[in-house]
Amino acid sequence: MVDNQLWGGRFENPLNPNAFALGQSIYLDIRLLPFDIAQSRAYLQALGDANLVPRDLCIKIAETLNEIEREYFEGTLVIEDTDEDVHGLIERILVQRIGAEATTIRMGRSRNDQVATDLKLLLRNAAGDIQVNLTTLIRIIAQRSEDLVNVYATSYTHTQRAQPIVFSQELLKHGFALSRNVDRFTDWHKRHNTLPLGAGASAGNSLPINFEALAGALNFDSLAFNSLDATSSRDFVSEFLFICAQISIDVSRISEEIILWSTREFGFVTLPDEFSTGSSLMPQKRNPDFAELARGKTGRMIGNLVNILTLLKALPFGYNRDLQEDKFPVFDAIDTLNLVLPVISGMVRDISFNRETIEQSVNHGHILATDIAEWLVSQGIAFKEAHDIAGQLVVLAESLSLDVSELTFEQFKSVSKVFEPEIIEVMKVRRSIDNRTSPGAASPQMVKEQIARLRNLS
Ligand code: ARG
Repeated sequence: MVDNQLWGGRFENPLNPNAFALGQSIYLDIRLLPFDIAQSRAYLQALGDANLVPRDLCIKIAETLNEIEREYFEGTLVIEDTDEDVHGLIERILVQRIGAEATTIRMGRSRNDQVATDLKLLLRNAAGDIQVNLTTLIRIIAQRSEDLVNVYATSYTHTQRAQPIVFSQELLKHGFALSRNVDRFTDWHKRHNTLPLGAGASAGNSLPINFEALAGALNFDSLAFNSLDATSSRDFVSEFLFICAQISIDVSRISEEIILWSTREFGFVTLPDEFSTGSSLMPQKRNPDFAELARGKTGRMIGNLVNILTLLKALPFGYNRDLQEDKFPVFDAIDTLNLVLPVISGMVRDISFNRETIEQSVNHGHILATDIAEWLVSQGIAFKEAHDIAGQLVVLAESLSLDVSELTFEQFKSVSKVFEPEIIEVMKVRRSIDNRTSPGAASPQMVKEQIARLRNLS
């Protein structure tokens, strides 16, 4: 039996070393240390207030907790190979520096309610950091959209040219998609801001502690409502990982566009040197590796979500050691987003938009065909017939290697007698764009409203 083990009274033989290695989580969960210290401080205060720990011992323990935290941040804290996890490590040091009486801080508390509390504290912190990274990106998107309010472009459906828009619309869509993730973290926080500490190992805590004050001290709204749920539910982790996966998916769609738009075939954007790589063989290359990596990491982010969901499926309630595995996907998801989001922000901030190439995209692809059909409807023609006539005009234009907007009035007339000279005005991209005035539409006026809204959100 190892000296600094948190249990062992009923065992005669020491743990098999391979089994110890399998159970050891210290090198991963050391990252919980600041949060474990924070909850220990609050718990110590609660024990002290209830006169369960003498005042001088309280002071000694509090000071040693401060020391351990300081050493952790300075990088001088020594992890020993016999430390099983972060909770055991902290107790080992408390005992080494104060003596066995320091273990009173463990009274009424189990690693089961302790680790759930640590993880909630860590996730709350991480959610805040990710929200900051997201709002920075959203703000940059709003800023860059302003430069593009007068740049005409085509929208795409099925990656085929569709209808005229101003190019800001393409950026803004990402801003709104991302902003919902900021909201998701806020909702997540509301739903899960209950304190597991007090649930004990499984059945609750019998000490005369002021649990409301304890919850308040750690900024939780209340104690968790059921001790078994509190110690063995991790839906706060799976929901968190869903939000992270969704962010990654949203970012992968930004990345995909950066990659596609920077191709010679599109040529809509040029990546700055700071966010491009060359090729070891082909001297001409300017590759979008970082957008590709951001896109590629999405596989891992979705994997992290699947990881926790699989871990939880059919898991009996009451703590099971399986739950120790929850930290791998969580830490990976947080680190990945904190690495990727600033890079995407930098890329969007510094990328150049090639106005001329973007605007050329409106000239081919018959993107005003819908406007022809809508004009015909305004003349009292049924939509189906209007759609057919516009389709015939596309066929005519294609046979002449023209865009539908380049046809003459006579050519329009040759397909349908209904056409008036006004149709030549209808075939102006600007008119088409300005006419779209529904909320969220791609006209300069409605895009400006979107920018203002997005700025308010970020
Ligand atoms: N290291 C463990 C974890 O991360 C702490 C809880 C251990 N509890 C137990 N009953 N063995 O989940």
